[in-house]
Amino acid sequence: MIIPGSPEMKSQLEAVFDLECSTAMFKETSLQYSRVDRVIPEVEWMKRAPYVYAINKLKKEKDAVILAHNYMTPDIYHGVADIVGDSLQLAIEATRVKQSVIIQGGVHFMAETSKILSPEKTVIIPDSRAGCSLAESITANDVAKMREKYPGAPVVSYVNTTAEVKAASDICCTSSNAVEVINSMDSDLVIMTPDGHLAQNVAKQTNKKIVYWEGACEVHIEFKADELREYRKYEPDAVIIAHPECPTDVVDEADFSGSTSGMIDFVRKNKPEKVLLITECSMGSNIADEVPEVNFLGPCNLCPHMQRITLEKILWSLHTGNEEVIVDEELAFKARQSVQRMIDLK
Ligand code: 13P
Ligand code: SF4
Repeated sequence: MIIPGSPEMKSQLEAVFDLECSTAMFKETSLQYSRVDRVIPEVEWMKRAPYVYAINKLKKEKDAVILAHNYMTPDIYHGVADIVGDSLQLAIEATRVKQSVIIQGGVHFMAETSKILSPEKTVIIPDSRAGCSLAESITANDVAKMREKYPGAPVVSYVNTTAEVKAASDICCTSSNAVEVINSMDSDLVIMTPDGHLAQNVAKQTNKKIVYWEGACEVHIEFKADELREYRKYEPDAVIIAHPECPTDVVDEADFSGSTSGMIDFVRKNKPEKVLLITECSMGSNIADEVPEVNFLGPCNLCPHMQRITLEKILWSLHTGNEEVIVDEELAFKARQSVQRMIDLK
């Protein structure tokens, strides 16, 4: 089996597709380039244009749709994605798309969610090693132990979980609807898994008592409130926007907190002159061309799992059909109930 991203993969792709840099390819992809020219230099796009061209052609031939999370790099986000969004939007879109094949531009739990919601479709992840520290922090057995400790309390699990954990939960939530989901529970005590920081941020916005699993996002936990206070000192006019996976003192320091799409919408609407997006680095790059009046200041952190998805691997996955995401039918049925309950709340 050829490993995605390996030199062998590259040479096999070169044998089938025309991946040479050329001005003709650049012209063919000039529309896509116009959406990223603030963040990708022309010389860099020259190398990516043949991949963008080949992917857009092949996805039509294969009846495939590319769903891309907001953390995908700008060449994927603006070059080949058909639908972009946060976790909730992508989960909903997975139920609506007409194509028979879904290529998931995102991490494994996102592809699994698409498969759970659309079991009749072929769902492919370009690199199955794209995991998530939150999804890996908890098992169904851990959920059972939480239930034993807090009898009768419903379990709300973030979508950043495996199918097994979703199946063991009562309902799912995402960063954009966590407060609504918690408030909809028919109990004063709610168990929230696996993100302890999201749980504590939500707890500040509800009257419910929340007990939580102590999982963390390895990317957002790196942001420190002190660091933001330093930025404020030197850039007092900068608007700070933080993802709710950040620790509570970081979110408290921010002017706004929301899901990845919530953060993008805030920038689109308010067009702050200077902004700090306290989240994954690709977010700023993906909206930079749309809001030229906004200056994106640091800091940002890269998610190593999201970064595993590249144009090369997307082309490979379209070409070979690898790697297909399979979820056991019984497990998928139970997990679907948890995800569907969340979607139905909308
Ligand atoms: P969103 O649901 O806000 O897109 O977040 C997903 C995620 O993994 C953020 O780290
Ligand atoms: Fe998981 Fe954090 Fe990466 Fe999101 S940013 S996929 S929560 S590790």
